[in-house]
Amino acid sequence: MHFKNKVIWITGASSGIGAELAMQLAVQKAKLILTARSKEALIKVQQKCLEHTDFCNIVIADLSNEYEAEDSVDKAIKQFNCIDVVFLNAGLTQRSLGFETETKVYRKLMDINFFAAVVITQRLFPFFKEQGSGHIVAISSIAGLMGYPYRSGYAASKHALQGYFETLQTEDAVSGLRYTIVSPGRINTAISASALTKDGSPHLQNDVGQLNGIPVQKCVKKILKAVENNKKHIIIARGEYWLWVIKLIVPSLFYRIANKKGMIN
Ligand SMILES: NC(=O)c1ccc[n+]([C@@H]2O[C@H](COP(=O)([O-])OP(=O)(O)OC[C@H]3O[C@@H](n4cnc5c(N)ncnc54)[C@H](OP(=O)(O)O)[C@@H]3O)[C@@H](O)[C@H]2O)c1
Repeated sequence: MHFKNKVIWITGASSGIGAELAMQLAVQKAKLILTARSKEALIKVQQKCLEHTDFCNIVIADLSNEYEAEDSVDKAIKQFNCIDVVFLNAGLTQRSLGFETETKVYRKLMDINFFAAVVITQRLFPFFKEQGSGHIVAISSIAGLMGYPYRSGYAASKHALQGYFETLQTEDAVSGLRYTIVSPGRINTAISASALTKDGSPHLQNDVGQLNGIPVQKCVKKILKAVENNKKHIIIARGEYWLWVIKLIVPSLFYRIANKKGMIN
């Protein structure tokens, strides 16, 4: 029960990994703050969490909007006047070839996957400095470590996220503040349904690769273990992990495998 009574803020808590983080942390009797755009879905997660923990509040925000993201930080702090751990998990993926993807789609992906995390982190720094402790968990992706077909904007945004947090880790400038970067491969959530296509419209399909991904419960258990053990970086993946290893040691082979159709979905 490492997280008992810890105050934990989860962004993107209305579904998938974020909702499962909320559930597993509620079982550990953490004090939760849940954020996303859809109030109805968040309330459902909140109600389930309240069956296990006495504290679970929600803060609704569109985090791709800078002002709402900053405001959500202030609101999250006000809930318990403390934040021990923040999971920067809200995100959006993509399904379109890079060469035909409109610029506005790249901006949208950067806004939620990169800038939202940066805005929240920068706003939290003074608070964590005063508190003397804190743990930021950035949910990146294996696509933050290598290119991935049909995800040019997604991979770019996650590479940016990886670079930002890895640099903060090297600077280690705020005493007591810890960072964990999580790079999952395909996890079985509904993320592909909301994926942006070339013109920004949603993909609306649960891709086979996604459905055959690592069960979300297993993924979240590994994330929580990594946070508990203060790991700097963790990869949670199956075949994608080996693809990344191949990229490091035999780059030419990486491009050949990544090109195969099976990688797309
Ligand atoms: N599933 C995978 O295979 C996989 C692999 C690698 C990395 N990841 C990363 O894991 C994280 C969670 O993904 P998931 O698989 O759990 O997907 P998901 O079920 O689609 O969850 C995404 C969450 O982000 C929230 N969100 C999206 N846009 C938002 C915005 N503008 N403002 C506030 N919240 C927003 C969504 O809530 P609302 O729509 O209610 O706002 C939802 O709660 C993402 O960062 C994703 O990139 C997932």
